Amino acid sequence: MFSFNVVGGTVARDIIGAARREIVEVVRSAYLTHHAGQSVNPNSYFLRFPDKPSARIIALPAYLGGDYGVAGIKWIGSFPQNIERNVPRASAVLLLNDYETGYPFACLEASQISAARTAASAVLGAEELLGSRKARRIAVVGSGVIGRNIVEFFAARDWEVEEFSVFDKVEQYAGLFCDHIRTTIGAAAQPAASLEAAIKGADVVVLATTAAEPYITDPGAFAPGQVVLNVSLRDIDPGIILSSHNILDDVDHCLTANTSPHLAEQASGSRDFIDGTLGGLMLGEVSIGADKPRIFSPFGLGVLDLAVGGFVFGRAVEQQTVVPIDGFFGETERWSS
Ligand SMILES: NC(=O)c1ccc[n+]([C@@H]2O[C@H](COP(=O)([O-])OP(=O)(O)OC[C@H]3O[C@@H](n4cnc5c(N)ncnc54)[C@H](O)[C@@H]3O)[C@@H](O)[C@H]2O)c1
Repeated sequence: MFSFNVVGGTVARDIIGAARREIVEVVRSAYLTHHAGQSVNPNSYFLRFPDKPSARIIALPAYLGGDYGVAGIKWIGSFPQNIERNVPRASAVLLLNDYETGYPFACLEASQISAARTAASAVLGAEELLGSRKARRIAVVGSGVIGRNIVEFFAARDWEVEEFSVFDKVEQYAGLFCDHIRTTIGAAAQPAASLEAAIKGADVVVLATTAAEPYITDPGAFAPGQVVLNVSLRDIDPGIILSSHNILDDVDHCLTANTSPHLAEQASGSRDFIDGTLGGLMLGEVSIGADKPRIFSPFGLGVLDLAVGGFVFGRAVEQQTVVPIDGFFGETERWSS
């Protein structure tokens, strides 16, 4: 009852690498549990720094009921300037708490878990919005850890993709990403000469940049029926959001923190532009046409970290790759008997 274990990032990475298909199903079922109201997912708390305006550390506390029965918190730092030293932007830990006693029982390195749940969610969104796993071309804008994970999850779900086109404001990063796609996934990949060239004609557009404000402003940037995975949340002008179909992961969450849907709500004074949530789409409660671009904006829910973190922890226990911390709790009896 009073055990406490640590799961390191290399263990988490190996477990995730061998189980991407299962993780997509874990994320699907977490969405449905959340949709059924069997969760508590308060607003994320953003710690910001006056002298480092682009950096933040976010706390995502949550409880996931249903088959999961686990609470916890992810604490994830985002320091975009890390990439100039070839260090990943995000770093994270996840604490899992036992729902019977409230006691924490695990601490996991969580940048891998967070990237996996984000990628699984994006690929689920693409499958629901496109209605197939076939794309002539997928455009990825932003050549970082998240874009890479999303492409790896497309591959793990056996998507048939003729070609990836990649755009990054730093040409070198797009080149490295294309090399990775060719060598690791075995798919065709080309750097695009411009944002417009990447997006034009793609069946699916993945936005995974670190843009803080909208820069996709052309009202015709996305074609009717084109599927847009708005993972980085702040790239798209609110006017485009208002003239598109919009599926969110959670409406209240997504309409915060100056995301493009949040700006669209502020500009229009209403939420009428939202068609529904991914959970609703999965259950057939919502349907959308191909008469406008179809945009999925996942804010990123703490319940998904709990679901994937719980899965990784379970696998690490089975494989005996957890690190037990003996005597972690200093007092296990209220009064000595
Ligand atoms: N919605 C979610 O659940 C969720 C979860 C995790 C991360 N994210 C977001 O995903 C994004 C990507 O994360 P990452 O770890 O891959 O970051 P990263 O810093 O490793 O990569 C981002 C890339 O985007 C490029 N970029 C920045 N602005 C650009 C622009 N305007 N046009 C083209 N390229 C541009 C950068 O050069 C960089 O290569 C972040 O914004 C992060 O907040 C979202």
